[in-house]
Amino acid sequence: MDLRGRPKRCSLHFGILPFIVFALVFFGYGFVSHRSQELGTPGAMTRMVYAQPKALTPSRKDVLVLTPWLAPIIWEGTFNIDILNEQFRLQNTTVGLTVFAIKKYVVFLKLFLETAEQHFMVGHKVIYYVFTDRPADVPQVPLGAGRKLVVLTVRNYTRWQDVSMHRMEMISRFSEQRFLHEVDYLVCADVDMKFSDHVGVEILSALFGTLHPGFYSSSREAFTYERRPKSQAYIPRDEGDFYYMGAFFGGSVVEVYRLTKACHQAMVEDKANGIEAVWHDESHLNKYLLYHKPTKVLSPEYMWDQQLLGWPSIMKKLRYVAVPKNHQAIRN
Ligand SMILES: *[C@@H]1O[C@H](CO)[C@@H](O)[C@H](O)[C@H]1NC(C)=O
Ligand SMILES: *[C@@H]1O[C@H](CO)[C@@H](O)[C@H](O)[C@H]1NC(C)=O
Repeated sequence: MDLRGRPKRCSLHFGILPFIVFALVFFGYGFVSHRSQELGTPGAMTRMVYAQPKALTPSRKDVLVLTPWLAPIIWEGTFNIDILNEQFRLQNTTVGLTVFAIKKYVVFLKLFLETAEQHFMVGHKVIYYVFTDRPADVPQVPLGAGRKLVVLTVRNYTRWQDVSMHRMEMISRFSEQRFLHEVDYLVCADVDMKFSDHVGVEILSALFGTLHPGFYSSSREAFTYERRPKSQAYIPRDEGDFYYMGAFFGGSVVEVYRLTKACHQAMVEDKANGIEAVWHDESHLNKYLLYHKPTKVLSPEYMWDQQLLGWPSIMKKLRYVAVPKNHQAIRN
C-alpha cells in the first residue's frame, strides 16, 4: 500500500500531539516488544563461534565470486556452511530433488540416491521426486530421518531429445499440482550422475543455475547457445553471461515453476515452427536465465566430469560428477 502523497497526516492537531506521543510510548512499548519477540525469537540465531569475515581479505582471489547483478557464485571457500545450515534450519526448509529415470536410465537411480543420502542437504528435510515410466524398477534405498521418496509415473518418449525436453513440462505441471504445497525449494538434477562431496543449502536461492564445466572459461561467442533467430532459444553473439548446464538448476518452487513453464512453452512454439534448439531444453534454459538473472550461480564444483576434464586446482571440491557410461546403449 502506497501512502505517499496522502494529505491526511498533516491535519494532526499540534495540541493533541504530545498526548499521542505519550500514549504511543506508554502503551505501544508493550505491543511493539511483544511483536518483535513474536517475530524475532524463531528467527534468532544461537551463539556461534567461527572465523571472522575480513572486509579487506577476499574469500577467493582466483575466481569470480559475484556476478555483475550481485548474485553470489558458489565456490568452496566463499561460505560458512554452519551459518547457512542454522539459517535454513530456522526456516524449517524442505527441499525437493527432482530426477528423471526414464527407460534404461533407471539403472542410475541406485547410485544417485545412495550418494545423495551421503552428501545432499544432510540434516535438512528432503523429498526425492523420481519421475519414471518404470515404477517397479525404482530401487529400495534406505533413507535418513526426515527424507522420503515419491515415485511419479510418467510416460516415455521414443527420442531421448523428447525425454529430455519434456522434463520441463513435467516439472511445471507437478509444481502446480503438488510441489508448491510440499517443499520450499526444488533442485532439478540429471540422474546419470553421483554426489561425491557436500551439496547443501549454500545452493538454495530464488533461482539458481550451474556453470557448464566445458564453458566456464569460454567467451560468450563460443557458447553453444541456439544461434538461429527462428528458435525461441535464440541468443545473439553479443549477448550472454554464462553457459548454464541443463543438468542442475533450481530455486524456490514458484520460480522453478515459472522457468519450466516458460521453457516448455518455448519448446512447443519451436515445434510448431518446425525447429528444435541445438541443445534442446538446455538451450531454452540458457535463454531464460539470460533474461531472468539467477540469484545464485553454482560453480562447476556442482557439475563436473573428471574423465573428460581432470581435476584443475581451482576446483577445491568435486561435488556432483558424471558417472562413466555408454550413452548410445542407455539412450535407446
Ligand atoms: C516444519 O515443517 C514440517 C513439514 O515439513 C511441519 O510438520 C512442522 O510443523 C514444521 N515445524 C515448524 C516449527 O514450523
Ligand atoms: C515406454 O512405456 C511403456 C508403458 O508406458 C512401456 O510399455 C514401454 O516398454 C516403454 N518403453 C521403453 C523403451 O521402455
